[in-house]
Amino acid sequence: MSFQPSRRAAEIETFKVMDLLKRAKQLDRDGYDVVHMEAGEPDFSTAPEIAEAAKIAIDDGLTQYTPAAGIPELREAISQWYQTKYGLDIAAERIVVTTGASSALLMIFSLLTDAGQSFMMADPGYPCNRQFLRFLEAKSQLVPVDAEHNFQLNEHLVSDYWQDNTSGVLLASPANPTGSVVDRETMKRIAQEVKSRGGSLVVDELYHGLTYEGEAPSVLEVDPDAFVINSFSKYFGMTGWRLGWLVAPAEAAPELEKLAQNLMISPNTVSQYAALAAFKPSTIELLEQRKEQFRLRRDLLVSGLRELGFSIPVMPEGAFYVYAGATHVTDNTFDYCWSLLEDDHIATTPGLDFGRHRCNEFIRFSYTTGIDRIETALERLSKRIRG
Ligand SMILES: Cc1ncc(COP(=O)(O)O)c(C=O)c1O
Repeated sequence: MSFQPSRRAAEIETFKVMDLLKRAKQLDRDGYDVVHMEAGEPDFSTAPEIAEAAKIAIDDGLTQYTPAAGIPELREAISQWYQTKYGLDIAAERIVVTTGASSALLMIFSLLTDAGQSFMMADPGYPCNRQFLRFLEAKSQLVPVDAEHNFQLNEHLVSDYWQDNTSGVLLASPANPTGSVVDRETMKRIAQEVKSRGGSLVVDELYHGLTYEGEAPSVLEVDPDAFVINSFSKYFGMTGWRLGWLVAPAEAAPELEKLAQNLMISPNTVSQYAALAAFKPSTIELLEQRKEQFRLRRDLLVSGLRELGFSIPVMPEGAFYVYAGATHVTDNTFDYCWSLLEDDHIATTPGLDFGRHRCNEFIRFSYTTGIDRIETALERLSKRIRG
């Protein structure tokens, strides 16, 4: 090698699904009809009014840096969103606009975790969290969760796994890869448990808006001191615009702003002006119609997979993923996903990407593709399994 990578960089893991993704794209290019159920992003393009607002911002020359915590109009609009959606008064000063939830997570972990400390989170979970903590010379403290836990932490698990060096707890609700939601009472009890131990609670609410059995509660309804991560990526359909936000207790906001100045200078300017259109009633109406599409897809996929023997004991309540147990067809879902791709041209994500706990038993299917494509995937799976 012409350079010596740092130990820190060398130990950062890649997404296992990346090679599979690359191969899926190659099969596309070679003319195969691949059903894409591996993606973690909506297949719908960004709502027209958001795109239009971006064009206007460019034409108006709004292309320079903004304040590190975001333009005041957007912080105000997000504050108003909490009022409209949750009936919560969240001062705009507590909101920091970020370059996606990704940088919000990095900033919050940087704020709350010293080298050698650990942050508690569910296994399976979103893979980057573990890498962010590794990057900070801190540790991810993975707590195995199963369907009997609704694939989420609870106050008992938090208490059982708490260590002297635990600085906080991260929840994701709805979660990636399981789509599970933490209910209000459980959230409240977790918040109390974390507080009683002097730790911080961070909740990744990135998939809020995409829930199919009623709205997911925000942790801010039960704990005003919690940190919240959110993003324009998923419900608002703006993955490529790289825009998110965090909500912090008032006294933490200046610290986070300081981190934002250094890590990003500012979030993407054009994206911020575009996002102002995300809260327009006409945009929300469109996003709600899309949500209904997701619900239909979820229902079709879950019942089809269950019919084929996949284990989905808990109905995924949100996001756009089904985390299906596949022990009836394999004891190694990593290899199985590869052969699903090569032989049946169905691209999925193996459990191995989301942690260690029973990861060889699960496959994540994303329903970020149309009903007809989900039907095609189910037909191919049926042929494979039933012959
Ligand atoms: C649970 C979770 N958190 C954070 C992210 C990062 O999202 P973004 O940086 O696009 O806002 C993702 C992306 O898939 C995710 O699933």
